[in-house]
Amino acid sequence: MATTDTYLAGNYAPISEEITVTELAVTGTIPAELDGRLIRNGPNPIDGGHPDAHWFTGTGMVHGVRLRDGRADWYRNRYVVSDRVAEATRRPITPGPRFHDSEGTANTNVIGHAGMTLAVVEAGGPVMSLTDDLDTVESIDFNGTLDGSFSAHPKVDPVTGELHVAAYHWTWDFIRYLVVNAEGTAVTRKVDVPVGYSPMVHDIHITESSVLLLDFPCRFNLERAMEGHQLPYVWVDDEPGRVGVLPLDGTADDVRWCEVDPCYVFHPLNAFDLPDGRIQMEVARHPAMFRKVTNGPAEGEPTLDRWTLDPATGRTIEERLDDRSHEFPRHDERRLGRAARYGYTVGFVGDEGPGYKHDLVEGTIEVHDFGPGCATQEMVFVPRDPDASIDDPSNEDDGWIMSYVHDATTDTANVVILDAQNFSGEPVATVHLPQRVPFGFHGNWVPTGE
Ligand SMILES: [Fe+2]
Repeated sequence: MATTDTYLAGNYAPISEEITVTELAVTGTIPAELDGRLIRNGPNPIDGGHPDAHWFTGTGMVHGVRLRDGRADWYRNRYVVSDRVAEATRRPITPGPRFHDSEGTANTNVIGHAGMTLAVVEAGGPVMSLTDDLDTVESIDFNGTLDGSFSAHPKVDPVTGELHVAAYHWTWDFIRYLVVNAEGTAVTRKVDVPVGYSPMVHDIHITESSVLLLDFPCRFNLERAMEGHQLPYVWVDDEPGRVGVLPLDGTADDVRWCEVDPCYVFHPLNAFDLPDGRIQMEVARHPAMFRKVTNGPAEGEPTLDRWTLDPATGRTIEERLDDRSHEFPRHDERRLGRAARYGYTVGFVGDEGPGYKHDLVEGTIEVHDFGPGCATQEMVFVPRDPDASIDDPSNEDDGWIMSYVHDATTDTANVVILDAQNFSGEPVATVHLPQRVPFGFHGNWVPTGE
């Protein structure tokens, strides 16, 4: 995926300063409807990093930009204060529960839920609660109802507001499905689905009927752990992948597995129920994971593929939608788990990262070229009117695409706001940030008050 030998070069390199800058310079016009924070998370090793270190294991740093009344009020970046960060910066240890002897790194995503800002990670790390200003407060366990791993990719059911989560840990030979209530006060459901080994389960998806559990042949390897690898998950040859279809109210015995060719998927774009009982999903599909390269995802370009799962037969129809590289897929999440027409992905073209808008019905793709040397990070769709009916298809792309964009020609970063209905056109606004934002993982738009 990344054209780098180590995850310390160029814009993968960590930054060392935590800063706050107010009243940012803007080119263009920030839409007055945008009132909230665009926040994101990624690894930023507090020790400066080691050339062989795994990209996924660096201490986390969150970045945020606050928009209101057509202005960019502030930019901030803050470490997520794990024990390593606390020790290195001589801050108090962050209070709250820890699981699986985790030292507290939460470096993969940052979400808004029930008024909380939560930095999240998979494989045993904590759920870290942050202030609106991105300072770490404590780790949380949803009032004692979480007792182990969480995930970097909770999916919000747009109808119930609940979070659906797939969790894993190297000591578990099952995939754990969790539901957190809309109020963010409790884990209300837990189903352990046995698989007989310990796979790396990065994400999950839901439809209106089912939960989709991702089980690909990248698994915990004790030998590598004993050798001291920070992330001892390796590719297993000659094993298929599979997606487990679990009815939303089902038990582990109800899971129906649908096999796919060997591959690895970090991120589905979306999935939904077809009238005939099958399920359609689009995924960013890697040909393998941690087979030859073990410090980051680099086993060939990820493509955008469509899978039609048939839980009745266990078979899957696989189609390639585009063989350019695509990752960090998102869509209008008011339609999460329902048929969605548009999806948005990030490309990797040399050192540049264009944005793609996919019309999944027509099969067409629009490109946004951010300019020479420019690479977008994950793009998020923000509806113009969050309460607009999703039954009206014309609402689906009525809004903005927002992302952090790195400009290698100046080694600076901007937040770029596009009109989703004029995706390849000039940005609506560009917010100029006071420092670069290292290539990281995921983030979200959190409207004020949510
Ligand atoms: Fe992810």
